[in-house]
Amino acid sequence: MLFNEPLAFSPRGQKPFFISFEGGEASGKTTQANILYSRLHGSGLRVTLVKEPGSTPLGQELRAILKGRSFTAASELLLFLAARAELVEKVLQPALVQSAIVIADRYADSTLAYQGYGRGLDLGLIQDLNSFVTRGIMPRLTFLLDLPPEEAQRRLAQSQAPLLGGPGEGWEARPGVGRLEAEGSRFEAEAMAFHQRVRDGYLKLAAAEPRRWRVLDGRVAKEVLADLVWGHVKEMLAAS
Ligand SMILES: Nc1ncnc2c1ncn2[C@@H]1O[C@H](COP(=O)(O)OP(=O)(O)OP(=O)(O)O)[C@@H](O)[C@H]1O
Ligand SMILES: [Mg+2]
Repeated sequence: MLFNEPLAFSPRGQKPFFISFEGGEASGKTTQANILYSRLHGSGLRVTLVKEPGSTPLGQELRAILKGRSFTAASELLLFLAARAELVEKVLQPALVQSAIVIADRYADSTLAYQGYGRGLDLGLIQDLNSFVTRGIMPRLTFLLDLPPEEAQRRLAQSQAPLLGGPGEGWEARPGVGRLEAEGSRFEAEAMAFHQRVRDGYLKLAAAEPRRWRVLDGRVAKEVLADLVWGHVKEMLAAS
């Protein structure tokens, strides 16, 4: 198994490296981000795992706000961007300055996919605002866990609690998804079209920047996906 192979890079002389996980609902981002974190950390590397929105006090508060209400597309966009600005300045950039490997469970591409392709807000505007709040800091490697919305719906139906319950361990803000959608009806006909636009948007983003993106079939077993992710990460770290 790839996991057991010796690392081609050394914890000593570690260089900063930024990796993000993207994809639709229930595509396996958090699962894979956590596994990758454990593997890198277990290899003796300095790793920081961040989740959007969240990972800062303001991010946590915005996450709670985004969870509880329905917003206009514009206000929703600006709230996600505010959380990102805070994350970049207070957590992400300092970690990279200290040569850590940063793993982000969603980042700037989520905004393009959800508020841009999903909600129809201007992509150029989102790109400009993303550049402003990220200070131009973008991942060197981005995994797209590509999953058909129908499969996401099946997964969510199997684990209803995080979606239908109140804030709990499993709950996460859904970029671009307001309260009504975040409850039971989220995957009804209209929402399904929204999720399909998000998926297509992600595929377009990946196709436009093939050096940064690795598109993985999210339907594959999580252990197999984790080994694919690990293979790509090892290759990129060795070359960095
Ligand atoms: N490769 C996989 N095959 C089947 N089920 C999976 C796979 N990866 C994750 N899951 C399951 O799918 C559900 C969603 O996984 P996870 O929370 O990692 O996705 P996510 O992309 O972070 O979702 P969200 O958008 O809600 O944050 C969980 O119940 C998880 O156990
Ligand atoms: Mg998640």
